[in-house]
Amino acid sequence: MAIFQDLTIVTGNSHRLLANEICQYLNISIGQCEVFKFSNDNIFVKYNENIREKDVFIIQSISTPVNDHIMELLIMIDAAKRASAGRITAVIPYFAYGRSDKKDQPRVPITARLIANLITVAGADRILTMDLHAGQIQGFFNIPVDELSAVPILADDFNKNGPTNSVVAATDVGDAKRARNTADILNMPIAIVEKQRLGNEEKIGSGTLIGKVKGLNAIIIDDEIGTGGTVISAANILKENGAKDIYCYVTHPVLSGESSKSISDSVIKELVITNTLPISEKQNIEKLRTVSIANLFGEAIHRIHNGLSVGAMFNKTTI
Ligand code: R5P
Repeated sequence: MAIFQDLTIVTGNSHRLLANEICQYLNISIGQCEVFKFSNDNIFVKYNENIREKDVFIIQSISTPVNDHIMELLIMIDAAKRASAGRITAVIPYFAYGRSDKKDQPRVPITARLIANLITVAGADRILTMDLHAGQIQGFFNIPVDELSAVPILADDFNKNGPTNSVVAATDVGDAKRARNTADILNMPIAIVEKQRLGNEEKIGSGTLIGKVKGLNAIIIDDEIGTGGTVISAANILKENGAKDIYCYVTHPVLSGESSKSISDSVIKELVITNTLPISEKQNIEKLRTVSIANLFGEAIHRIHNGLSVGAMFNKTTI
């Protein structure tokens, strides 16, 4: 039984396609909300329907232009609060700035924490997101956070479409847990490529391999792909150590700069991504395939609205 009044789903301009897909799953129309910029670059938001006491879900993935989309989200939350929404959930499929989650150099910010504060101060009551760069980012919020995982969907896709006789590879020691979860689902061994990032350079240094890959196909699993440097360098190391075909499965396709071309030219056979972020024509190369996470978000929204367990979606209990 719904605790809050009617469900209202609205979106900013970051990824309307995904918001529409989520609404299709929930069998409701997207709420009337205009979000645009005046000529002076100021963003304006207006809800064109009554949202008083409604259970409002604002879908806004932090796609590029990242800073504009953050401001849209903050202003949408503020407008919803001032329109007396009953509860406001910020649905953020991709949480940008997640890599700035610690002081790993002197005199640097923790921008992920700053963004979490801004969202909370704007008036959000809850967060629904997916595959944060580090799970601990949940703790940057003093409001409930539901973090979904794309791993079961990605693993299921590899099970259906990938080759047998494979190994799951992590691109980093810090990412070994994600690889372990995937390997458990797929019942496969794991290998870890130790990544060395050179300061603030987006370039990846050479790394060493832990585990056996010779004669096996490899599935590289990662939370996001930016320049593509991480997965390409991992793929090269796997190849050098005798791996056969290399597949990459990544939740968030940031795909910055010339990354798509680099993937095209690389030893990677296929890059499978989810639609947490929109893909431009330039990014959409032949090696790319997308699996949708819209139904997962739709089901999570249904459960949050009706006070049902979100965790049960992943551990197969029915509570
Ligand atoms: C880093 O720790 C992440 O898990 C990804 O490996 C990283 O963000 C990918 O970035 P890029 O594609 O620019 O190497």
